[in-house]
Amino acid sequence: GMPNHVKIVEVGPRDGLQNEKNMVPTHIKVELIQRLVSAGLSVVEATSFVSPKWVPQLSDAKDVMKAVYHVDAARLLVLTPNLKGFEAAIAAGAKDIAVFASASESFSKSNINCSIDESLVRYRAVVAAAKKLSIPVRGYVSCIVGCPVEGPIPPAKVAYVAKELYDMGCYEISLGDTIGTGTPGTVIPMLEAVMAVVPVDKLAVHFHDTYGQSLPNILVSLQMGISTLDSSVAGLGGCPYAKGASGNVATEDVVYMLHGLGITTNVDLEKLLSAGEFICKHLGRLSGSKTAIALGRA
Ligand code: HMG
Ligand code: MG
Repeated sequence: GMPNHVKIVEVGPRDGLQNEKNMVPTHIKVELIQRLVSAGLSVVEATSFVSPKWVPQLSDAKDVMKAVYHVDAARLLVLTPNLKGFEAAIAAGAKDIAVFASASESFSKSNINCSIDESLVRYRAVVAAAKKLSIPVRGYVSCIVGCPVEGPIPPAKVAYVAKELYDMGCYEISLGDTIGTGTPGTVIPMLEAVMAVVPVDKLAVHFHDTYGQSLPNILVSLQMGISTLDSSVAGLGGCPYAKGASGNVATEDVVYMLHGLGITTNVDLEKLLSAGEFICKHLGRLSGSKTAIALGRA
């Protein structure tokens, strides 16, 4: 059945801002993270320690971390694609990290420049190094139903990568519909395949809203027992290596739906709306959240 409580992983400062045409100033990123934590979000993705040539928008990762690493009201996650990124993250004070694999060979190549199995070898090294420091590692699988190059991705491929990440020691596996093409018609069989090999309480879902399918996909995921959801304030987001992918489902809209279902989140919608207003004002853009628009807060 449906969970009584849902943990939201806020990905706006990372997944959102990695895709902005213009680099957002460090102090704006820092204030956004602080506002999201104040709104009650218990996990916030802060930045990525990736190659600045690949993602220049997050090339200030070290400075962002130095400004927020002391925050203890929330867990601040950072993405690390290899040991070099892991070491830089730890040096900057990171206490929670994430590794990101793909269920699509083509996307793995275009996003992290290696095959799926090569990435799993790198991630085993990162997880082993993290374990020595008692640093928890979250794992991502991208392209869980569709790939920008290959098209449909078989559920068995997603289950394979999710299980590999779980078996190497990731405490949670986030299943990402990177390009947002999934519908409940493709998401349900994918979840069935993954849930056969990874316990449902170790799974999260991460929907991009390109086709407006995130909320129905989230609803079926909740009905299947998933209780961790990734979302992005104001629906910021995309992936620089997935052309045409739009932002993540808006956190405001997720919170509105969950509270409507009687599911608790600990998130203060009012403060969340303010955080969304803050970043949209800076970006000079209307919010991607329908809830923010409806409440005149866009
Ligand atoms: P590469 O070019 O194959 O790396 O990139 P390399 O090992 O050959 O090294 C090349 C250069 O990069 C060297 O520097 C390295 O030192 C440097 P040079 O000698 O040329 O001056 N380098 C680094 N610098 C900083 N930090 C590092 C690092 N590693 C190497 N960690 C690499 C391979 C993985 C580094 C690159 O492809 C990369 O950074 N990719 C990241 C792409 C990315 O961040 N994508 C977005 C996140 S994934 C996503 O959004 C999906 C998700 O939201 C889920 C979903 O939606 O489904 C998670
Ligand atoms: Mg994403």
